[in-house]
Amino acid sequence: MGKNYKIGIIKGDGIGPEIIDEAIKVLDSISANMGLNLEYKEMLMGGAAIDETGVPLPDETIQGVKTCDAILFGAIGGPKWDGLERHIRPESGLLALRKSMGTFANLRPAIVYDELVNASTLKSNIVKGVDIMVVRELTGGIYFGQPRELLEDRAYNTMIYTKEEVERIAKVAFKIAMKRDKRICSVDKANVLEVSQFWRDIVIEVAKDYPEVELTHMYVDNAAMQLIRNPKQFDVILTGNIFGDILSDAASMLSGSIGLLPSASTGKGVGLYEPIHGSAPDIAGQGISNPLATISSASMMLRYALGEEECADRIDDAIKKALSQGYRTGDLGAYDAKEICSCSEMGDIIARYVSK
Ligand code: IPM
Ligand code: MG
Repeated sequence: MGKNYKIGIIKGDGIGPEIIDEAIKVLDSISANMGLNLEYKEMLMGGAAIDETGVPLPDETIQGVKTCDAILFGAIGGPKWDGLERHIRPESGLLALRKSMGTFANLRPAIVYDELVNASTLKSNIVKGVDIMVVRELTGGIYFGQPRELLEDRAYNTMIYTKEEVERIAKVAFKIAMKRDKRICSVDKANVLEVSQFWRDIVIEVAKDYPEVELTHMYVDNAAMQLIRNPKQFDVILTGNIFGDILSDAASMLSGSIGLLPSASTGKGVGLYEPIHGSAPDIAGQGISNPLATISSASMMLRYALGEEECADRIDDAIKKALSQGYRTGDLGAYDAKEICSCSEMGDIIARYVSK
């Protein structure tokens, strides 16, 4: 008797549907082999939801996610919806979904595969061995702060953090650090912003419960520079919503392509697993997108949400094997490539490898 899981699927827009299809292909292959029964429940969010229902996050989706064990999500947005008012744009759907699910902790690993050290835009000696976990606060900060307004002659947003919000994300980061190299760099802008000073003070308090973890602090501008100068100095980066958004994009390029990096958004309840990249409308439908970030996100889902470690390991190993054999999607460049594959060919290869 296999184990039953219900997986919510939100394909979204642009390349979202094609990369999710490949992740499902891989999940189907591994579940057939490992005796899991996966039931998929497809839900709408983003531009696709706007087209269908008029809103970016239909009630049905808010309710639907609660019935699932985990959610796998592709990407949202595109020029078609850019002119809409902010509250009905696709991005607002994603933010509202994160908020409604309470997924305050966004884990974004930036790992450089040995096989791809030459795919990075940085020198191989700088990136070889990089293994960073960005812990980004996801449901607070300037993304959600009130008041916010766009007026004729001025506009404003508010960066606000409560004690509870900083404490809970800091605890997540410290727990993760305990399982890694026990080093956290908390990134803020405490030399300018009160909210950052507040953040820093609370992180220092939380650190007292984790004496084994070495805590350092860095201003965000310096952190951006250090990520490019010497990324191996970082183990866990703990930071707020907008700084984490920016730094995780920067960190992703260490690995060679933003098309490789997965993420897990977790909190109290059901988690949301998604690639860190966007919907890439410019290449959507051409079959050239890289499904590996989404396939890796499916692996994180198996590991963290379902506790299916062995299945997750198999996926991670299959990705490494495909890369070491020279299979590359176009974004990784032709260097070292034995074969440039399409999105679905890459999915086929990983699905084949996980089944052995
Ligand atoms: C991300 C994205 C989102 C964010 C957008 C699409 C709202 O950039 O997940 O990093 O800013 O959080
Ligand atoms: Mg982003």
